[in-house]
Amino acid sequence: MGSLIRKMKDKKILITSALPYSNGSIHIGHLVEYIQTDIIVRFFKQMGRNVVYCCADDTHGAPISIKAEQLGITPEKLITKAREEHIKDFSDFNIEFDSYYSTNSDENRYLVYEIFRRLKEKGFIYEKDINLPYCSKCKRFLPDRYVKGTCPECGAEDQYGDNCEVCGAIYKPIDLVDAKCSICGSHPKVKKTNHLFFKLSAFSGKLKDWLNTSNLQDSVKNQCLRWIDKGLEDWCISRDPPYFGFKIPDSDKYFYVWLDAPIGYMSSYSTLVGGAEKVLDAWNNSEIIHFIGKDIIYFHFLFWPAVLMAADINLPKRIFVHGFLKVNGAKMSKSRGTFLTAREVLGFLKPEHLRFYYASCLPSTITDLDLDFKVFKAKINNILVSNIANFFYRTMYFLKENFDGEFNDFVDKKVMGKINKKIDSILSSYDKFELTTALSEIIAISSIGNKYFQEKEPWKIVKNNKEEARNVLSFCLRISMIICSLLKPVMPEFCKKIEKQFNGNVYNIAKREFEVRGSKISKPEIIEKKIKDIKL
Ligand code: 2FM
Ligand code: ZN
Repeated sequence: MGSLIRKMKDKKILITSALPYSNGSIHIGHLVEYIQTDIIVRFFKQMGRNVVYCCADDTHGAPISIKAEQLGITPEKLITKAREEHIKDFSDFNIEFDSYYSTNSDENRYLVYEIFRRLKEKGFIYEKDINLPYCSKCKRFLPDRYVKGTCPECGAEDQYGDNCEVCGAIYKPIDLVDAKCSICGSHPKVKKTNHLFFKLSAFSGKLKDWLNTSNLQDSVKNQCLRWIDKGLEDWCISRDPPYFGFKIPDSDKYFYVWLDAPIGYMSSYSTLVGGAEKVLDAWNNSEIIHFIGKDIIYFHFLFWPAVLMAADINLPKRIFVHGFLKVNGAKMSKSRGTFLTAREVLGFLKPEHLRFYYASCLPSTITDLDLDFKVFKAKINNILVSNIANFFYRTMYFLKENFDGEFNDFVDKKVMGKINKKIDSILSSYDKFELTTALSEIIAISSIGNKYFQEKEPWKIVKNNKEEARNVLSFCLRISMIICSLLKPVMPEFCKKIEKQFNGNVYNIAKREFEVRGSKISKPEIIEKKIKDIKL
């Protein structure tokens, strides 16, 4: 274990979250992933690992052109505004990127061209005539989001032309049942056009080997293996104009957004490693971990690794998939008022409460999670406030009141033994991205602390055995330092405020030792208070 941790420490780790489209606001569904990733990154940083967190806006393709057309502005204007808004939203939820870039950047263009050149040179790109839906009224081909209809695989209605958001299937736009133009609603006709294809089918064997030998979630791995067994179709990577994206060299067409989007992970990383020309080397020498939602498994486990294999670039070490967010037990919906943007929820809840809640229900599987506002209130009031924050406060309050905040180095060995086992389990849960377990074990340490406090009754013994009371409170303070440090990736702001009250005395989770810089705490203050019902 020791040597593994040392190895990870030396190797640079690049962690990414999926790039949000520039066509809309960050919503509470998106936040699941960014909060999850941010917690893991903060944990890695606290452990002293050499990690960076990169992301960017996904600025190209049909979703962006359609939105810009609706707003009557240029796509450039739309993506500039969106990026500013997204950055503000992330920062308000304490999501801290090392680089937040844009796929519409010179670096991304450079890397797309370089990777395309490699694919072409190796013979993995070819041209083919295909039939596409064509809207005679709008006078344009209808790929991707320009066409809507029923999924040919699962029958879900109102799906786009490139993939089904319900079953994750990838299909051709002409396979959509009862297709309609998304702009004008008319039924398209079918028209022939010439396009570029990437030989995805040539990678079936290699992809299978990779899936079978990597550290991936079982259900995701099995779903991908089933797709491969059904037979992979080559991937159309070009789009007809008008299109907002990168022009394909020596062609009148554009690259499909899903070719340049994941390359955006690299261009974001390039800003930290000396530019686009250096990033492929840096990438090949780093451990890459992607966090994504289950709707984009196909793109990340099949297209993306195959492109990387074809271009002789390192594959991600892990791709970690989470489930969808439900609100009060049902799919997020505009009509029920549960399709909430990050900005909207900031109006009625504390961002770190959402981080705490999400961490409490984020397992390492792709099971959906539910933002149930009754459960939310109960978790904040009964666990965060009454169990954790109250333990911090009463420990420090008694210490301040009776000993002017002066603590000693007493540790109850038996209780500390129990806590040490919990710390082992928490560190290993964080490492496995098992946030639910990590948080429930942190809460368990707080319960141990509360029980110790109750049983020892320092408020009574202080009357006739002052030193013993100081021992009890000093040990409770140390338990508080441990909890605070372990909780910090989840609630960085709250924990920083608590650390201030500890007066700079902390528990270092990487070294697993207390760093005591003085013998007095500062003035304790109540930071977390119970919340009221949240009604949407
Ligand atoms: O599904 C989406 O929201 C995409 N914008 C995610 C892109 S992730 C990466 F590949 F760029
Ligand atoms: Zn039309």
